[in-house]
Amino acid sequence: MDYLLVNGGKRLRGTVQISGAKNAALPIMAACLMSEGQCVLRGIPSVSDVEHLSLLLRQLGMRVERQEDGALHMQVVDEGNSHAEYELVRKMRASICVMGPLLAKRGVAQVSMPGGCAIGDRPIDLHLRGLEALGADVQLVDQGDILCKAKTLRGAEMFLGGHFGSSVTATCNVMMAATLGQGTAVIEAAACEPEVKDLADFLNVAGAQITGAGTPRIVIEGVDSLAGCEYQIIPDRIEAGTFMVAAAITNGELVLENCRLEHMIGVTHKLRQIGANIESNGDKVTVSSARHLEPVEITTQPYPGFPTDLQAQFMALLCLADGNSVITEKIFPDRSMHVGELGRMGARLRKEGPTVMVEGVKRLTGAPVMASDLRASAALVLAGLIAKGTTEINRIYHLDRGYERIEEKLAAVGANIKRVER
Ligand code: EPZ
Repeated sequence: MDYLLVNGGKRLRGTVQISGAKNAALPIMAACLMSEGQCVLRGIPSVSDVEHLSLLLRQLGMRVERQEDGALHMQVVDEGNSHAEYELVRKMRASICVMGPLLAKRGVAQVSMPGGCAIGDRPIDLHLRGLEALGADVQLVDQGDILCKAKTLRGAEMFLGGHFGSSVTATCNVMMAATLGQGTAVIEAAACEPEVKDLADFLNVAGAQITGAGTPRIVIEGVDSLAGCEYQIIPDRIEAGTFMVAAAITNGELVLENCRLEHMIGVTHKLRQIGANIESNGDKVTVSSARHLEPVEITTQPYPGFPTDLQAQFMALLCLADGNSVITEKIFPDRSMHVGELGRMGARLRKEGPTVMVEGVKRLTGAPVMASDLRASAALVLAGLIAKGTTEINRIYHLDRGYERIEEKLAAVGANIKRVER
């Protein structure tokens, strides 16, 4: 199993190209199950979650081919199998996004219930509530599968808010299903993430009639069919946020290309409070850091609030702030596997329920650490960039799920980092 070796202390300088958004790519790829023609998707990152979903979509009768120019050509060639099996779904929870499209296009979807997750409890009750509101018959059948059936889906008004607020993939799933339903569906308390808006924009290019995406109220006028189309997905705001922290934590200066600052208001607000300078020129964003990092309070929230997917990376940064910070995780209260590992590098962190007190220290020290999930592993890389000595990061398959060649991008701007095959 590969691992990363990071020797800290280098100030990062240079330009980084931001990849397409993983969390837009996955639902958009699943949505291609509803198209009558070929879809050509551009900007799809080469990360293992995309490979996993491609495997699943092939099992569900889709031809998925990566072209020389990087575009993904997607076309349904066989609608015989509508069963998303445990073996593939357990590897990637976002596989649940095939449920709505299969149900809408084929009238049946059998999808394995996603199991436990390192970042905490992740039920799918909102997905099922929305599909039932559209008239689907939903049952838990043997082997832990969910079986959804519907001859016709009918538009309806529904409230999709949950205990922790809106749900990104539940909104995606229900919005996709309603696209081929009869009549008008209205989703209240919909997730407003840019990835949800990007999915709606893709569906509208393919012939759907969706309005209000990106706001808490989405209206879907059902249509009879969707055509093939070409579509370029949005840049990855979480990858961009990770590199912004890399610039700040190394007291460096990075130019991020293909970065949409308007998707990152909650993030740049916090970075400026911490002391970083952020300037934009079109989709080029320059981030430079002040030597002195201010402590802050962060509470994760649904978009446009501070994203939970940057909580761990900012915790690594605030370990070096001049004072005490407080981070409260409101979306996945148990998302804290990185706390213990950062502690091994000399961080002073005290966890109380969903809140972590971060006492700023003068320096971190390199150590062997273990990645536990995608964003926790990014936080360990960032800590390694500033730590004294060598940090060895294990289980980096977590990192490869959502970051395209991160060590190459970091090395290109001066980091002393390499992947070691074991
Ligand atoms: C999406 O997950 C992202 N994944 C996650 O990114 C991200 O952390 C999350 O949204 C929140 O922003 C993808 O887009 C593929 P949710 P999702 O449903 O849709 C609760 C990464 O690092 N909930 O918005 O699964 C849930 O437990 C990943 O790239 C219910 O209660 O998250 C959580 O507390 C990790 N019932 C909250 O809602 C449901 O039916 C938000 O979860 C669904 C969710």
